[in-house]
Amino acid sequence: MTRFPLEEFSHLDTPFYYYDLGLLERTLTEVKRTSRDDRFFVHYAIKANANPVILRRIQGAGLGIDAVSGGEISVAIEAGFRPNKIVFAGVGKTDREIRYALEKEIGGFNVESLAELEVIDSIAKEMRKTAVVFLRVNPDLDAHTHEYITTGLAENKFGISMGMIESVLQRSQELNNISVRGLHFHIGSQITETEPFVLLCDRINNLQSSLEEKGFTFASINVGGGLGVDYADPDRHPIPDFEAYFKTFRNHLHLRPGQELHFELGRSIVAQCGSLISRVLYVKEGETKRFVILDAGMTELIRPALYNAHHKIENISDPRGELHHYDVVGPICESSDTFGKGELLPYVRRNDFVAIRSAGAYGEVMASLYNCRPLPSSFFSEQ
Ligand code: LLP
Repeated sequence: MTRFPLEEFSHLDTPFYYYDLGLLERTLTEVKRTSRDDRFFVHYAIKANANPVILRRIQGAGLGIDAVSGGEISVAIEAGFRPNKIVFAGVGKTDREIRYALEKEIGGFNVESLAELEVIDSIAKEMRKTAVVFLRVNPDLDAHTHEYITTGLAENKFGISMGMIESVLQRSQELNNISVRGLHFHIGSQITETEPFVLLCDRINNLQSSLEEKGFTFASINVGGGLGVDYADPDRHPIPDFEAYFKTFRNHLHLRPGQELHFELGRSIVAQCGSLISRVLYVKEGETKRFVILDAGMTELIRPALYNAHHKIENISDPRGELHHYDVVGPICESSDTFGKGELLPYVRRNDFVAIRSAGAYGEVMASLYNCRPLPSSFFSEQ
């Protein structure tokens, strides 16, 4: 059970993000233990959480970075990550971002189209540099996750289609300032089954064999991220099953001799160590419902409003009270500003602390200024 330091909370302004750094360290230790293999390289997808305190811990564990903007590259470098351990992804890199990444000599670009490849080549030429590139392939594979966070289907905007990859490889040979080092894949996020990853391995195996027949070989394969977490019961599964995850790739992906395998994990590393802590402003008796109105809303945690996601909600001031049903909502002027409907919670009073769990990934980093609200602060503890 996560124990929240209520005494310390009582001196803080709500809402704020609370991070259990002890859990983050245990998670990182598990990532390192289960990915121990000379061929494996784990990058942290910084889009999940870019809080500098969190980043320093992740940097200390030796992970690299998967960045999707010039801003993320710069924040990662500031947090101490070596540029050569940073990969730069995204369908819409600007010229300025490409120039910045080349200047910093990052590890490479995950390239999503022929148009982008040609722009990177011309900017690299101007700068008299060679850009290391990984071509992102869209494996046309259903990851069985929410439609907004599935990325590996042919209908998505991501990557180069399986049918076009050969012609892009051929074209890349004519581009003098590009060096294609590998292939990159990412099929979606919050994937809780093994099957989509096994299917991904099969797709990669077939693709590699057929490209090798045409004379194309790769120093590196990148399988992206996507490992899911247990939002329903974070105390039962505070650390995702990294063992099974890495084993899937060990068992199913046929790496060639000397070939590297890269991963880009975001959510699975940081989700469970973070909670959004809020205070109850009012308990409102409706005609048919009882509402708990929090001082945190979709401005602090947008996942429920945006993806219909459900995060576990706890009354941490009085966890043993009599159970009642409540709709738990935020203060923002939007009906989607709702964290849970019909939640069974121990009796809730004004000023109680409520924790919204598993909020370490895509929480603080997606906070907004809507309604001119201030961005949430953060508080850390080692347990
Ligand atoms: N690599 C690529 C190319 C990605 O697009 C993503 C996430 C990752 C790695 C990291 O995926 P993860 O291991 O975190 O699943 N805001 C949404 C999630 C968006 C994910 C975008 N891409 C949410 O709150 O569920």
